[in-house]
This record gives sequence, C-alpha cells and structure tokens, in this order.
Amino acid sequence: MQPDTHPQRNHTDWRITEQIKGFLDPEEGMRLYEIALDASRLGPCLEIGSYCGKSVIYLGNACKAGDTILFSIDHHRGSEEQQPGEEYFDPELFDIRTFQIDTFPLFRNTLALAGLEDTVVPIVCRSEIAARAWNTPLGLVFIDGGHAFETAMMDYRCWAHHIVPRGFLLIHDIFQDPKEGGQVPWRVYEIAKASGLFKALPMTKTLGVLQRIHSADQ
Ligand SMILES: C[S@@+](CC[C@H](N)C(=O)[O-])C[C@H]1O[C@@H](n2cnc3c(N)ncnc32)[C@H](O)[C@@H]1O
Repeated sequence: MQPDTHPQRNHTDWRITEQIKGFLDPEEGMRLYEIALDASRLGPCLEIGSYCGKSVIYLGNACKAGDTILFSIDHHRGSEEQQPGEEYFDPELFDIRTFQIDTFPLFRNTLALAGLEDTVVPIVCRSEIAARAWNTPLGLVFIDGGHAFETAMMDYRCWAHHIVPRGFLLIHDIFQDPKEGGQVPWRVYEIAKASGLFKALPMTKTLGVLQRIHSADQ
C-alpha cells in the first residue's frame, strides 16, 4: 500500500452529507472517497449524475485533498424515475416556472456549502454531449446517471476508454437480484468486466469497483 500523502484526509466533516438529498449510502460514499484519493494521483475524476451533490461531497473532497479536479456531469432534468408520477419524484425539485425538474440550484448550493467551488467543475448537459469533445485522460469515472440500458451503456461507451491504466471505473446501484432493484447497472458492470480492460475489486453494498488493467500488471 502506498503511504498516505494527503494530510487533509481526516479533516472533512461528513455530517454535511446528511443535509443533501440523494441516494448514496454513507458506506458507499466513504468508499468513493478512498478510491478517489488514490485516483487523484493518476488524473482528474469525473462523475455522471450530480443530482443534488451527495456523491460530489465524497469525490470532491478527495479531489481537493489530491489537488485535482472533479468534473460532474448532469443535465439536471432528472432521470426517468424522478419525473412526476414516478417512484423517485420529489416535488421540491420541480420548477413550476419551466414545468421541469431542476436540481442545479441545489447542486450549486451543495458546492458552496461544502467549500468545493474551486475543485468541482459542473457540466450541465447530457453526458454524451460532453463526451463528444472530451480529450482528457481520467483517473476515475463514476457512473450514476440514467438507469435505462441505452443511457447507462452510452455512459460506459463514452467514458470508460478515457480511464488511464490503474484508474477506476465505479458503477452505482448494482443489484444482482431483480427483487432488490433494476438490473441495468449490473448488466453494464458485467459488460465492463467481460471487456478484459478491467479487473473487479470488492464491491461496497451496491457500488461496483473496477480497476483498469495495466499491461505491466498482467
Ligand atoms: C441517481 S441520480 C444521481 C445521484 C447522485 N450521484 C447522488 O449521489 O445523489 C441520477 C442523475 O443522473 C442524471 N442523468 C440521467 N441521465 C443523464 C444523462 N444522459 N446525462 C447526464 N445526466 C443524466 C439525472 O438528471 C439525475 O440527476
């Protein structure tokens, strides 16, 4: 194991995450943080699915400690299951002026509250649009965007190849048992494993952790 060269590691007050709307378990959040600390030595990090910023607090604080940048992509119009009438609809996030979901104001507020405005670069668009002009190698990609198969596969296809050797691909909401949750993230995780580009590391709850293989490690 490499020595810990991040003196800020223990200085974050994680209670702030309790105030932020979101779907991330604290144990999964701490795993994100630990992996992003490692990844920040390799390059900037990127997440798809900012929502109101819960995962950003974990990833962003690691990037801050590692003196790198977190790119956080979201169109901020909500996923299919967050629309009116759907299971995860939150009326507080519905903007009656535009008659659409808008999570961007809360996300900005989270960045200010967490002191992450100099670390996190919000990108407000569909992930495949940002990917069209992307050319920066990444230490970590966290996929937590749309859960339709086409959307999640698009995220994988657009972003996984930007991960540097020994960098990380993280996928949220992996349920092997259909009784516990949707199967799409698990299918994408299996496709990534079968690609031969990644090795699987232990999961934390529903967080799948893959590491890009380096030819020297084989
Ligand atoms: C499950 S939430 C993300 C949760 C967040 N990571 C957290 O910790 O609370 C999924 C988010 O993905 C966004 N989203 C869905 N499809 C997207 C796409 N194609 N491009 C960008 N964002 C997308 C939605 O707007 C929604 O905010």
